[in-house]
Amino acid sequence: MKKIAVVIAVCLVGGLAVSCAMQPPTQSLRGDVAMQANNVAPPETMPAKPAKKLFPRTFEGQVPLIAHKVQVDAEKYTISITKNGCLGCHDKPNYKKEEAPVTSKTHYTAADGTEQETLVGKWYFCTQCHVVQMEVAPIVENTFVGTK
Ligand code: HEC
Ligand code: HEC
Repeated sequence: MKKIAVVIAVCLVGGLAVSCAMQPPTQSLRGDVAMQANNVAPPETMPAKPAKKLFPRTFEGQVPLIAHKVQVDAEKYTISITKNGCLGCHDKPNYKKEEAPVTSKTHYTAADGTEQETLVGKWYFCTQCHVVQMEVAPIVENTFVGTK
């Protein structure tokens, strides 16, 4: 009995080794292109300058664009684990003093539908959704027409 078990074990291990050897090496979808090479946007798609006037929203529920400059290195725009510069102006306790639009009600609504006093965590990384609006010529023709 013991002998059979050993034979089976040897076959299994041997079989695995053969099938492993037949696996092709894992290939990246990027091929041989180094990761850094994809990081820099080509010059023609780089934003020109932030637009001054707030772009109108074109459909219900659209993420509004950020209507001002965001200096990534300036503390007042920093989003880190301990500090959220955007909330410094847009949070409920601060927006009046800063004359900024208050962060959306949806951002204070918990999963059970109740409105919270503080921002709900899943909305913390503002720039995950909001981007600075830019004055740029469309790269391709765009015939989109908004619903409002
Ligand atoms: C120093 C204060 C201040 C800080 C910091 C700040 N904002 Fe603003 N934000 C404003 C003001 C004032 C406006 C309104 C500008 C206007 O209407 O021309 C505004 C407008 C906006 C809007 C447009 C809202 C709408 O009604 O369409 C968004 C979105 C926004 N900010 C997001 C952000 C995000 C994200 C950050 C952090 C990266 C940030 N803001 C940091 C003051 C600030
Ligand atoms: C998951 C995406 C997402 C994240 C993260 C997010 N927002 Fe928004 N935001 C939206 C959408 C979508 C809207 C428009 C619809 C709505 O009100 O929910 C909006 C609306 C707003 C508005 C306009 C409110 C109004 O009543 O017109 C402000 C200001 C704003 N967000 C600020 C912020 C700030 C500040 C943060 C970070 C603390 C943030 N948002 C994080 C998606 C996001």
